[in-house]
Amino acid sequence: MLLLCALGSACRARASPGPTVPPQVAPGATSGRQLKLGAAVQRARLVDARDPAYASTFAETFDSLTPELELKLEHLLPRPGAYDWAAADDLVAYAGAHRKEMRGHTLVWHRALPAWMLSRSWTREELLAFLKGHVAAVVGRYRGRIAEWDVVNEAFNDDGTWRKSLWYDVLGPGYVEAAFRFAREADPGAKLYYNDYGAEWMNAKSDAILALATRLRKAGVLDGVGLQAHFNAGWYTSGPDLAANMARFAAAGLEVEITELDVAMSSRHGSAEEKLRDQARIYGGIAAACQAQPACKQLTVWGVSDRYTWLTPSDVPLLFDAAYAPKPAYAAIRAAIPAPRPTP
Ligand code: XIL
Repeated sequence: MLLLCALGSACRARASPGPTVPPQVAPGATSGRQLKLGAAVQRARLVDARDPAYASTFAETFDSLTPELELKLEHLLPRPGAYDWAAADDLVAYAGAHRKEMRGHTLVWHRALPAWMLSRSWTREELLAFLKGHVAAVVGRYRGRIAEWDVVNEAFNDDGTWRKSLWYDVLGPGYVEAAFRFAREADPGAKLYYNDYGAEWMNAKSDAILALATRLRKAGVLDGVGLQAHFNAGWYTSGPDLAANMARFAAAGLEVEITELDVAMSSRHGSAEEKLRDQARIYGGIAAACQAQPACKQLTVWGVSDRYTWLTPSDVPLLFDAAYAPKPAYAAIRAAIPAPRPTP
């Protein structure tokens, strides 16, 4: 089995080579509904307006906003007991003023924990009380203004077993349900999601997520599953593979979303033109599969333009180039997903 390590820390087994066949969906075939298109943003770029093209491209193109950093624990709570709400408040205010929906990302994750949390010891009672207080504080503060939350992020290993983390080690697997219950209590109107990578096709990880999500949906505390979709030119899920996987989540009564889509191209040999074309084909397959599945509510890309990416600049993974010109990938997305309504 081929291992690819192009996306930072995790090497992932390529279980399902993306075939070159297009998805079995004609572009715009189900274009009766408005699928929302979102992007991850950073406050410093959007609100400080040091880069006006970043702000205008985001405002004109996207329906919803995911803070890339600002709601993560290390950013909100750098010191014990002292929440720093400033950056997150700015983004929530921006979203309100510009009529963008918000995805809250993320309440519980094994990464982005402040150093002080990792350097002290926790009893079960202490960490459960902290979790309850944290979820109540964050979700409660933005009640009614953040439409949906990634309550728990990346709790499983690729083989479907629980990932070791501070949360798991101290609280056991019950931390997941506890976090969802606390979030439901804090904002009963928000949609609550479990979010992960490497679960875009049928495999041991997506099996485990489906079982967890089905149970928590029946318990009334979870609404959907986010599929991150951090792909590269040699490692991605084809439209049909994604469609088949989403169909089983839909059949279990769950919503799904593509939550962090990007397609890194540095590993692909060929001319710049070939790379752009290939990237557009991959983006188009994902967008068409989401558009064709009524349970797929939204597609979010992990950044606005290739000028800024969490990957390396040569990955050029996003929909707009570094000069903010729309790339073929953007045209492919728009061929599958109707353009947003003009904002009055
Ligand atoms: C990443 C951000 O993009 C980086 O800027 C940050 O340094 C680390 O986190 N999966 C997730 C996201 O759920 O929160 C991660 O975001 C990317 C992988």
